Amino acid sequence: MADSPKPRRILLGITGGIAAYKAAVLCRLLVKRGMDVQVVMTAAAQRFVAAATLQALSGKPVESDLWSDRTPNGMGHIDLSRDRDLIVVAPASADFLARLAGGRADDLLSTLCLARACPLAVAPAMNWQMWDNPATGRNVAQLRADGVQILGPDSGVQACGETGEGRMLEPEDILRQVESRLGPGPLAGRRVLLTAGPTFEAIDVVRGITNRSSGRMGYALAQAAREAGAEVTLVSGPVALAPPPGTLLVPVESAAQMLAAVEAHVARCHVFIGVAAVADYRPTQICKQKLKKSTQTLTLELEPTEDILATLSTRPGAPFCVGFAAESQDLERYAEEKRRRKQLPLLAANAAETAIGAQDNALILFDDAGRHPLPRGPKLEQARLLIAHMIPLLERWERSGAHTHQEPNLQ
Ligand code: CTP
Repeated sequence: MADSPKPRRILLGITGGIAAYKAAVLCRLLVKRGMDVQVVMTAAAQRFVAAATLQALSGKPVESDLWSDRTPNGMGHIDLSRDRDLIVVAPASADFLARLAGGRADDLLSTLCLARACPLAVAPAMNWQMWDNPATGRNVAQLRADGVQILGPDSGVQACGETGEGRMLEPEDILRQVESRLGPGPLAGRRVLLTAGPTFEAIDVVRGITNRSSGRMGYALAQAAREAGAEVTLVSGPVALAPPPGTLLVPVESAAQMLAAVEAHVARCHVFIGVAAVADYRPTQICKQKLKKSTQTLTLELEPTEDILATLSTRPGAPFCVGFAAESQDLERYAEEKRRRKQLPLLAANAAETAIGAQDNALILFDDAGRHPLPRGPKLEQARLLIAHMIPLLERWERSGAHTHQEPNLQ
């Protein structure tokens, strides 16, 4: 069983300068690429952009004060960068570069940089004369000699109205450099299509048949695939969840709409993961008015819906298909039967009563090599393990030519 892949983890340091507003854009771009971003701001940075903005964009509290430590062991000045793959300071002011070059540790960000165990990249941003000043030149040369990556700066019109070198690189350029340093992720270049959540099959204008699916497992898988670098499209039934950053959400209601949305996107995709709890039956008639009650027994006539997963997986030229099985009895036998019937290289089985609508899960993965139980845990952790298990299977499947087309039709 492969280890759970970690999202690429960045510590984004922001120092005081007008380019700090662009750090908000950078933060958003990093998060949208599936990265885990911890923001640390200096006091001066907070004169230019509010910590609340960065907190909302990164989804985590912003750290800034060396003396108000939230870590359990009181070692935030060291711990905050311990699990990071890279520290990026953008913008890096002239003053911050000087402090960094001098090995100072007089605020949280400089202390984290000094105590780091990961690479450091800085994106200088300052007035052109500050950049031209030999003192800054010496500091930058020292930082380069110390192994710090210097991103930019650019030249052009500056906030002060003067023109010259010293503008911070555009957030998109910094993102590119971060990605080329950290690698794009094992699913880079792959497009993953998922279904998630319940469907809602209307009975009349206000009522319908649905189920207890929360969408959490599907949304967690969308996030895990995004973290691994894939381009992700999420076709979702009605749920109360925000789509993971950087994924394309296609909201639908009924099984028929879900199938239509999947058909509209599947030709572009390398991987299809059917997580949705799709209704197996729908009313044969949808009453155009609200049904009125009476004392009579009401009988609803139901007809089967199409099996979205089986429709795709048994078709020539199908993408790599992953299915789910929710069972309330004989889990493993039914799951493996489902996998064979739907011709799936990988299926994740879970107990219907404890998994659907829950926060945690305990998946058992079935593939040609057998069964692989995952330790019970939060759905995002399960999703990361599933993606880690899927990647070598997908690569082997692609190499073997088991699929009938190498590159999906991009029309
Ligand atoms: N699925 C689907 N379309 C359907 C029904 C199911 O795409 N109309 C997919 C689900 O997203 C899941 C897999 O098929 O990946 C299995 O779903 P599950 O509800 O466990 O099984 P069913 O095939 O519906 O069979 P049963 O309800 O009899 O267990």
